[in-house]
Parts: sequence; C-alpha cells; structure tokens
Amino acid sequence: MRLVVTRLTQEAQDVLGVELRARDGEMLPSFTAGAHVDVRLPGGICRQYSLANSPLERDRYVLGVGLAAASRGGSAFMHQCLAVGDCIEVSAPRALFAVAAEAAEHVFIAGGIGITPILSMIHWCEAQGCPWRLLYCVRTRARAAYAWTLARHGERVRLHVDQEAGGAQPDLAAWLGNAAAGAHIYCCGPEGLMNAVSAQAAQAGWPRAAIHFERFAATGATASDDRAGSFKVVLLRSRKSISVRPDQSLLEALEDAGAAVPFSCRQGMCRSCEVPLLAGQADHRDFVLSDEERDAQTCILPCVSRARSAELVLDL
Ligand code: FES
Repeated sequence: MRLVVTRLTQEAQDVLGVELRARDGEMLPSFTAGAHVDVRLPGGICRQYSLANSPLERDRYVLGVGLAAASRGGSAFMHQCLAVGDCIEVSAPRALFAVAAEAAEHVFIAGGIGITPILSMIHWCEAQGCPWRLLYCVRTRARAAYAWTLARHGERVRLHVDQEAGGAQPDLAAWLGNAAAGAHIYCCGPEGLMNAVSAQAAQAGWPRAAIHFERFAATGATASDDRAGSFKVVLLRSRKSISVRPDQSLLEALEDAGAAVPFSCRQGMCRSCEVPLLAGQADHRDFVLSDEERDAQTCILPCVSRARSAELVLDL
C-alpha cells in the first residue's frame, strides 16, 4: 500500500521518527505489538522497520529509523531525503516478534534502535495492565530515542548509558534474576547484546520458549559474505535439478532456474522467502527460525541458508 508521510520527528541523535497514514484517511491494517513493515525505497531498496506506536492505533504507523553507520541507501535515504507529504510503498505489518499474552511479567531489554518494537510492546502492556520492566542500553544519552516517553514510567525503566558507565556492561544477571516466575524475556538490539542475553538466560535455566529475540540488522556474517561450497538442489514439483555455486545464494540459484520465490529482505530476517524442505540437511543462517524449526529441517530461507548435506530437496 502507498502511505503518506505525515510527520517526521528527531527522536534522538541519528534516530528519525516517521509517521505514516493512508492518503484517504482510512484505517490501516491492524498490527500486533512488535510487528514490522517492509518499506520499499527508490532504487529497489527494501528495508524492514518495526512499528513503534500502540497496536490500538488504527489510523497511523510510526517507524523509528536509526541511521546505520554503513547505510547502503535505506536509512540514509530516510534521514536525508524523506519529506512530509511524500508517499512510500509499505507492506502490511508482519509479526515475527510478539508478546506472549500469558506471561506473568514482560521483561524487556533493548539496545539502541532496538527500542522501537519494544516501545510498541510497552504500549500494549500498559493498555492491558500487564506488568513490565525495561532495561534500555544506549551508547550515549543523546542516542536514547523515546526517552521522554519512557521517563513517565519511573523505575520500570532502567537506562544503561555505556559512556556514563565507563564501558561497563549492564548487569544482565541481576536484571533477569529479579524476574517473576513465569516471566518472558524480550530482547532487540545489536548482536553482542542479544548474545549476552541469550547466554545469561541459558545459564540461569530460562526455558527457551520464554525468550524472544528480534534482530533489527544483519550485522553478523551471512551467506552473502560467508558462502562456502557448492551443493545440489532438487526442485521436486518442477522436476529440475540445479547446482548452487559457492559465489551465489540458494535464492539466486533458484531465480536463475526460473523458480518464483517471493523475497523481501534477502538477509534472513523476514521469512518471506521460506520454502518447504522435503529432504536433506539445511545449514540455517537466518535470524528468524526458532530452534525447534531449525532442528525439524522442514523449511529453509534460501536468501541466506545453504546445505550441510550434498543435496537438498525442495517443494518447488
Ligand atoms: S528474503 Fe527475508 S528471509 Fe529471505
């Protein structure tokens, strides 16, 4: 759908708030807290941005756009070229990161621009009267987007500013150790923070189903920069057999073979390219499948994932 930019706000250093509404003032498709949309930008660029506003609001979407240091055009365009009145192409919201309504407490950990989906989750918790707490980690106070909104929640919000802590890491053990029985943990932020939360939660014996992660950028190695080895792929329904070269992704090989696989991010973050896997062992390199889905070996995201076995059989 084409939505109009109705407001641009500077939420913090290098963080732009973008309000989008329907051109005719109609209601927008509903979304759940933590959902994101795909935004299509000039030059064929597609980026995922989380919705920051309350899921109860049906008349607007609010995005928080961090200016990526190594922007390949997406966030740089949003920061430098976008103007009120512009129309941009936006997908319907998709929910890969969602609140567990049954949780006894919602324990949030956000790093930098990772606050965006968590802010929407906090709106949801407030509306439902659910207990929540937030540990918000930023490099400097000037980069703490939405700090003015969060300040009214008092001690529920703990701000960890790297610069003021002398480089000391946030005390994750204490933060998670204070959680109520039956709490769920939600973390969105840089890779290092999520790895630290994952390790701390595992050490403390948290059930994996009670921990939720959202990656807002593919900062680690992906298939595009860590490709290795060729492998064969059988497309069962179209009765084709193809080879995937070391220098191409499985998705690229499928496209070369004429297979119509939808895609969006091409970074293993959105699931839009998901394909049923009928046989073979996938080398999952995405950021969205659960551990159970990886172990089941029944689907693969071909934009980044490859093969552990010599051959994969796909339902294509
Ligand atoms: S295109 Fe987004 S996960 Fe493959």
